Amino acid sequence: MTPKAFAALMDRAYTEMRPWTEVEIEATLSMPHVVFPTAERGGLIARIVAGECEILSIATDPDAQRQGVATGLLNRLVTMAAEQAADRIFLDVAARNHAARAFYDRHGFSRLGMRRSYYTLRDGSKDDALLLVRSLRPAAAQAPVT
Ligand SMILES: CC(C)(COP(=O)(O)OP(=O)(O)OC[C@H]1O[C@@H](n2cnc3c(N)ncnc32)[C@H](O)[C@@H]1OP(=O)(O)O)[C@@H](O)C(=O)NCCC(=O)NCCS
Repeated sequence: MTPKAFAALMDRAYTEMRPWTEVEIEATLSMPHVVFPTAERGGLIARIVAGECEILSIATDPDAQRQGVATGLLNRLVTMAAEQAADRIFLDVAARNHAARAFYDRHGFSRLGMRRSYYTLRDGSKDDALLLVRSLRPAAAQAPVT
């Protein structure tokens, strides 16, 4: 998928969040350590560096949602991150983005923190960002809670 096509897809998919522009996508993809797994109807931009992975953007075309597209993209990212020995995936999600929060819940992410009024939405209002994390280490390899 081209940056232009992903910008158009994001524009359709992001109802409240401001979508990225083609220029912003191109600039991000030109940075080191950035990966861009795509499917016919969706895409994901992430950075994998220094043992950690951060999801920067993920979107599925509205008429292809709830069909496993984003799950497939996330699974591919998990494989890429594991190949690069990353042990955690982070991301920020807008508090009122219920679809994305349900998606990340379903995929084992948990809340690490919050940034108040971090996002400016399409209508100019502010929303908090929730910082979510998912461990990529097998449960048995994780340090016991003491
Ligand atoms: C969040 C998003 C990427 C999910 O994409 P998707 O391809 O529809 O996701 P999947 O089909 O893989 O969903 C997997 C599971 O996540 C949960 N889920 C996904 N969308 C959901 C919704 N709208 N409501 C409730 N649960 C949802 C469900 O558990 C779903 O499984 P199910 O359909 O069997 O019930 C999509 O809604 C989207 O593009 N939103 C706009 C862009 C955006 O907000 N990106 C996130 C920025 S952080």
